[in-house]
Amino acid sequence: MADKRFHLGWFMNFTPDEWREPFGQGGRPWDGQFYVEMARSLERACFDYIMIEDKLMVPQTYGGSAKASLNHGMMVPKHDPAPLAVAMGMATQRLGVIATMSTMAYPPFLMARLCSTIDSLTNGRFGWNVVTSAEDLMAKNFGMDRLPPRDQRYEMADEYMDVMGKLFASWDPDAVVLDRDAGIYADETKVRPIDFEGKYYKVRGPLNTVPSPQGRPIYVQAGASPKGRDFAATHADSIVSVASGVEEMRKFRADIRERAAKFGRDPDTIKVMFCVTPTLGETDDEARAKYERMLNSPHFIVDTLASLAAITEIDFAQYDLDKPLPEKLVTNGESGTLDKFQQWGSGKTLKELVVAGGGGLVSSVELVGTPDTVADRMGEVMEEVGGDGFLITTPVLRVSRRFITEVTDGLVPALQKRGLARTAYAHEKLRDNLLDF
Ligand SMILES: Cc1cc2nc3c(=O)[nH]c(=O)nc-3n(C[C@H](O)[C@H](O)[C@H](O)COP(=O)(O)O)c2cc1C
Repeated sequence: MADKRFHLGWFMNFTPDEWREPFGQGGRPWDGQFYVEMARSLERACFDYIMIEDKLMVPQTYGGSAKASLNHGMMVPKHDPAPLAVAMGMATQRLGVIATMSTMAYPPFLMARLCSTIDSLTNGRFGWNVVTSAEDLMAKNFGMDRLPPRDQRYEMADEYMDVMGKLFASWDPDAVVLDRDAGIYADETKVRPIDFEGKYYKVRGPLNTVPSPQGRPIYVQAGASPKGRDFAATHADSIVSVASGVEEMRKFRADIRERAAKFGRDPDTIKVMFCVTPTLGETDDEARAKYERMLNSPHFIVDTLASLAAITEIDFAQYDLDKPLPEKLVTNGESGTLDKFQQWGSGKTLKELVVAGGGGLVSSVELVGTPDTVADRMGEVMEEVGGDGFLITTPVLRVSRRFITEVTDGLVPALQKRGLARTAYAHEKLRDNLLDF
């Protein structure tokens, strides 16, 4: 029988939980325990990975101030994903943990060292979400007045990945000898400087960590522009994407696979994961009512527009909610998200855009219904798209224990029953589980 299984990941961040809703968790997840518990739940449901989003600023684009972000707890406070990834990884045995870190923020040596250390701490289950950052506000926290243009950021990131690869290779896999009789820990002939001198980076090396279980972390990427797709197809083990509907999902994946083959890679070694925000209920009607309630909640529109403003640096508070956008908007930030959102030419009002497509920014297809209804739909969608999996998330990334349980104990068992999701991990390392099917 054909293997119909697809991969499952979860996209979240280290921000307040769903604190405003009746089944919220209180809004203070800062000791990490709530998210550690979430990681354990995802492992019970045999997810491939949990991915922690990140940004490096307090947004203040919406309405020209930080008011909306701070009042609503939207995109801020946001704590550092790397220590949380360690906590989640050390509390689990098989789940992959992915932290987002920007090439514009970390010097490559520090990044390689951090990734290597976490990969060792998690016994080979660490992944790095490679981002080049998208905001001038972020740039101002790192000694710049503004970010370089997108194409240059990707050029820098290409060189950055080259340095990373050389640093990881600066220790031969067998450099650690641990010969107690001879008194030798590591063989000095198997550890070499890299003497890298490029256009943007200059690094002597070698790295000062031992080779980690996976050799290097899994690379996750979300390139959407042509340059971004080339970058992702060159480097990524898993690509995360938000598409508008099944046909776009299919096209995106086919395009990535074509690019990867052109660069001499086996496309099957890249797992393309599409964001979805399922709404689950006891009956289809109940799920639909829950969905409508969310879309029509007073906070939903501002939260969506404030988070979009943060990542595109366009002030959506200046536009009339009941009219279409006056012009096609462009950004040096997250252009893929902006283009999906604005559906230029559709004639929809700004409010209709927010409500469209599964509640705004992050759902590739609408999934509303009982676990069985949604599992059936996910199966159909994956069959049409061709692979490789879904990245579960929520419209503005806030989660409650209830929502996590609906997925791990409702949706996932329904997927497993249909042979669409794994029922046990076959391997210990993240890379091996990703390549399992
Ligand atoms: C699912 C998903 C997750 C992302 N996570 C982050 C993130 O955590 N931090 C960040 O700065 N950008 C994040 N991005 C943005 C991407 O890194 C990238 O900037 C964006 O997809 C636009 O790519 P492009 O510049 O090639 O169009 C994410 C994008 C997607 C689709």
